[in-house]
Amino acid sequence: IPVHPFDLVIFGATGDLSHRKILPSLYRRMLVGQMPAGSRLIGAARSKMTRAEFRKTVREALGEFVEAKHQKPEAIEEFLNAIDYVAIDATGDAGWGALAKKLDEKPDNIRAFYLSVAPALFAPIAARLAQTGIATPESRIVVEKPLGHDLASAKTLNAELRKHFHESQIYRIDHYLGKETVQNLMAIRFANALFEPLWNSHYVEQVQITVAESIGVAGRGAYYDKSGAMRDMVQNHMMQLLCLTAMEPPSKFDPDAVRDEKLKVIRALDPLKVSDTVRGQYRAGGGDGSYLDHVGNPASRTESFVGLRVHIANWRWSGTPFYLRTGKKLTARVSEICVVFKHPPHTIFPQVDTLRGNALIIRLQPNEGITLRVAIKDPGPGGMRLVEVPLDMTFAGTLGPDGDLPEAYERLIMDVIRGNQTLFMRGDEVEAAWEWADPILTAWEESGSRPMPYDPGSAGPIDVYKLTGSDGHLWREIAA
Ligand code: BG6
Repeated sequence: IPVHPFDLVIFGATGDLSHRKILPSLYRRMLVGQMPAGSRLIGAARSKMTRAEFRKTVREALGEFVEAKHQKPEAIEEFLNAIDYVAIDATGDAGWGALAKKLDEKPDNIRAFYLSVAPALFAPIAARLAQTGIATPESRIVVEKPLGHDLASAKTLNAELRKHFHESQIYRIDHYLGKETVQNLMAIRFANALFEPLWNSHYVEQVQITVAESIGVAGRGAYYDKSGAMRDMVQNHMMQLLCLTAMEPPSKFDPDAVRDEKLKVIRALDPLKVSDTVRGQYRAGGGDGSYLDHVGNPASRTESFVGLRVHIANWRWSGTPFYLRTGKKLTARVSEICVVFKHPPHTIFPQVDTLRGNALIIRLQPNEGITLRVAIKDPGPGGMRLVEVPLDMTFAGTLGPDGDLPEAYERLIMDVIRGNQTLFMRGDEVEAAWEWADPILTAWEESGSRPMPYDPGSAGPIDVYKLTGSDGHLWREIAA
């Protein structure tokens, strides 16, 4: 889809997200022709800097965060030519006039404002943009998690944003929604006749959603210790994966139709019981410190791991448990959704009961792709012995140009420019997810109990096995 010339104003342009993700993503989109002539990227930050000085920081960021094969000197010059800078005081008066003047040079350009700043600045910047007339009714505003710390703060934030911007102008990023395989989940479910008839509790025994990370929280302790895995990963990223897996087929592929269906899933979630949750905190090991060392708080009760058994109380899913787990310092970096089907109703092969059963494994990272586990006859003369093999489809190489799949931020930023909100969270979704998460966060807090320690490089605390074990299920191995 062609893109109209745009001005993307990045507040917090000198920060880490801007350098690591936003600018490199735009550069890669330019390489494939999606930055039309006349488009500009306007950095806005507190530092007093000239345009040339800011360009220098962008050049360095591209040097560090763009793959060597994409480092093309001419293209980098072209990209830098589109870069401008305004020193701005988010909560004061300085710089707003200069920004307005710059944007008015190209009144026909689409205007998008990416707030890559501390959440405390979302509301003041939104207010300024509106009061100064810099934001027009067609402008877009982009914000990213943390979108609140609990239901009350999420509601306040939504209310502040909506004072100045219509919901159709607000783009709430959850970068998991920009991942190739996450979107493929919708394609697999709704573009094939094969899966949807089986996609319910009559045929699905259990669903496992895993987002395992091998890194710890060193360097991010101050942020992380106030969040923990539930706020950092479950309320947003994992909730989105759960919604896309469990939602009803939307009547059309339209932003509100999709988001309405996701919202219904969140609203159908049974309240979590403490007995359906497991919290963990990693120990020291492998030459690295413990969670408590990394956050510098020996008394911290914040979880670096969470495991949950979730029930969706609706006709489609009643009786099928959804197990969720996410954590730092686990065996490997693996994100996947595994839909395990029931055994055949009648077996003619005695061995069937010992098999794990059909499963559809949707792998987000690494090696994005989809695998269907099926039972076949073990080849050879050994009689009718069954083995389970993967029917495998790895996306990279098969589908991406040069085996490259676009990064989540590339797709999401271009969707902002195109004005397509399908892959962005609506305000009511965010609030509903907090409404579900809040009571368990409070219950953990009030219990006064500590998360269970677990070893780095493990699959989490021992008790996580009880979540699946008490239903007679087994977690999939966490393996890259
Ligand atoms: C972020 C979390 O939103 O997602 C981090 O704050 C986490 O704690 C990251 O590491 C994981 O993202 P990805 O894309 O690396 O799986």
